[in-house]
Amino acid sequence: MLKGKHIILGITGSIAAYKAAYLLRLLIKRGAEVQVVMTPSGKEFITPVTLSSLSGKPVVSEFFTANTGEWHSHVDLGLWADALLIAPATAATIGKMANGIADNMLVTTYLSCKAPVFVAPAMDLDMYAHASTQRNLDMLRSYGNHIIEPATGELASHLTGKGRMEEPEKIVEILDRFFETSKPLSGKKVLITAGPTYEKIDPVRFIGNYSSGKMGFALAEACAEAGAEVMLVAGPVSLKTNHSSIDRIDVESAEEMYRAVLSEYDRSDIAIMCAAVADYAPETVSDVKLKRTGEDRILRLRPNPDIAAELGRRKRPGQCLVGFALETNDEEMNARLKMEKKNLDFIVLNSLRDAGAGFQCDTNKVTVIGKQGEPMEIPCKPKIEVAADIVDIIGRYVSEDR
Ligand code: CTP
Repeated sequence: MLKGKHIILGITGSIAAYKAAYLLRLLIKRGAEVQVVMTPSGKEFITPVTLSSLSGKPVVSEFFTANTGEWHSHVDLGLWADALLIAPATAATIGKMANGIADNMLVTTYLSCKAPVFVAPAMDLDMYAHASTQRNLDMLRSYGNHIIEPATGELASHLTGKGRMEEPEKIVEILDRFFETSKPLSGKKVLITAGPTYEKIDPVRFIGNYSSGKMGFALAEACAEAGAEVMLVAGPVSLKTNHSSIDRIDVESAEEMYRAVLSEYDRSDIAIMCAAVADYAPETVSDVKLKRTGEDRILRLRPNPDIAAELGRRKRPGQCLVGFALETNDEEMNARLKMEKKNLDFIVLNSLRDAGAGFQCDTNKVTVIGKQGEPMEIPCKPKIEVAADIVDIIGRYVSEDR
């Protein structure tokens, strides 16, 4: 979960600073990119050389690099960060943070940081228990900062008292859990249809379409990546799923897809209808292979259930339903009509006119139309990236109060 995350590790002047090297190594091992920022007294306890060789980045501790005069921008650092972790945090630094005393690079960075802040205090028991420290910690909590309570447990309190910095493994776990549960679709169940449907004529023939299922499968991966549990109902395609949070039901016909989707819909928070469902199926399916007769043959078709429209009818408050549309004329108007008719929250309009978009391709170009607001155009790019953009839009929508 820490993979690719940008973390500022703030190190202050505590004896626990030696543990920061191990903490840094653990963060790097989990795939995080770490920028170390030290207070001047932090450097008395651990050398920047150790930390910069572990992080692969020069340590920042002054506003300017001494010999080149290069300015370190705390604002840029604050924007770069996905999290600011101050470990160990001394009583002095906690006090400065609580009161906005920005007399060093770390506290200055803290003040301009938009990312979540984690503070792991480290001091002796008396300092920790002092009303002043406790009041400062309460102030940090009231600013929305996360205080990583010092290590407790019998052994710890017996040996050094409460006030000892939490163990690096635990700190990393706390950060990991934070990112896991702060994903845009954490705790959400998403139902997705993908691919074509095949409507049997006889044991060897069917009516189908050219849908590859790639867009629906990309959406399943993007939703899982965003923290959702995904149920993917897939028509006949030769694609695999990768993410462990994706369950899959394989179906062939629209009728089977309809049944599978209905059985899952009640427990879903979001349903994305990406399948190219055949609108019609042969009225009768022959048990035996139809023979060539030399005469005209009429295949009578009956309408298939409209899965998206049925979900629209059953939609509960809070459920979000997304459909796709492929139009050849008056695209936006037709898409909007479809959105209304099927009671969708969004409709994703596939562009048929653009090269590199649509069936079979690995890239797509779409416009996401919601009930409110302007249509959102997603330029032509790989389907997995288009899927991530669509999931972003859905994630923002479901987190709003509706
Ligand atoms: N859809 C569905 N079940 C169907 C047909 C369509 O769930 N039997 C869904 C598709 O997955 C898509 C949306 O409805 O999300 C729009 O599909 P489309 O085929 O463009 O719309 P239709 O209602 O079939 O309209 P038309 O073919 O007349 O344009």
